[in-house]
Amino acid sequence: AQTIGLIGAMDEEIELLLSDMENPVRTDYAGITYTEGDVYGKHVVVCKSGVGKVNAAVTTQILIEKFSVSHIIFTGVAGAVHPDLEIGDIVISTACIHHDIDVTPLGYKRGEIPYQKTSAFPADTDLIKRAAEACEELSARYISGIVLSGDQFIASKEVVSRLHDEFQGACAEMEGAAVAQVSFMNKIPYVILRAMSDKADGSAHVNFAEFTVESSQKSHRIVEHILVHM
Ligand code: ADE
Repeated sequence: AQTIGLIGAMDEEIELLLSDMENPVRTDYAGITYTEGDVYGKHVVVCKSGVGKVNAAVTTQILIEKFSVSHIIFTGVAGAVHPDLEIGDIVISTACIHHDIDVTPLGYKRGEIPYQKTSAFPADTDLIKRAAEACEELSARYISGIVLSGDQFIASKEVVSRLHDEFQGACAEMEGAAVAQVSFMNKIPYVILRAMSDKADGSAHVNFAEFTVESSQKSHRIVEHILVHM
């Protein structure tokens, strides 16, 4: 039977899942609370990883080992990198890259992890398809593309254009590539869903504060639709 691991980095990103859950059972590991139960007719484990790649990596490995999740879906907000994206639009990950790994002095490209075949961790094609169907049916504006992750809040136009040129990134956030890499290492299908809270520019801090709740709800609605139809 399938158990779907659902991760958000912040309370705003998971609170609707938790409030809609039936028969919740809470367990803590490594200071993170995992809530197992049923939501929209599916058996799930919901958790708040906290911000950043280490938190996301630990959380993902625990979902896999302790809860034997069959799929992982991340829901939350991000800064837009693709120029066509507006606040509130959705990005569905096709793959995730760590934009902040930099071993360029040894001849590697930025974003490239030494001694590894893969530095862009592909999302599951079936979950991508289900997410796109959800966006279509809910008339949500979306693109499928590369999710870029780093332990940095991006708030500069120059950095945004570099991230777009260098990685063809769709959005920037702080957890996706860690979830993606750990899922890839364990051969668990995953997808990252992000609704844009800001454009990662000079106004990002203001927009993030203003739009995080609304955009988190948009991402949530996509997850709800995916779960109902899985
Ligand atoms: N999450 C939401 N907005 C972000 C930004 N501008 N940079 C990194 N993570 C984000």
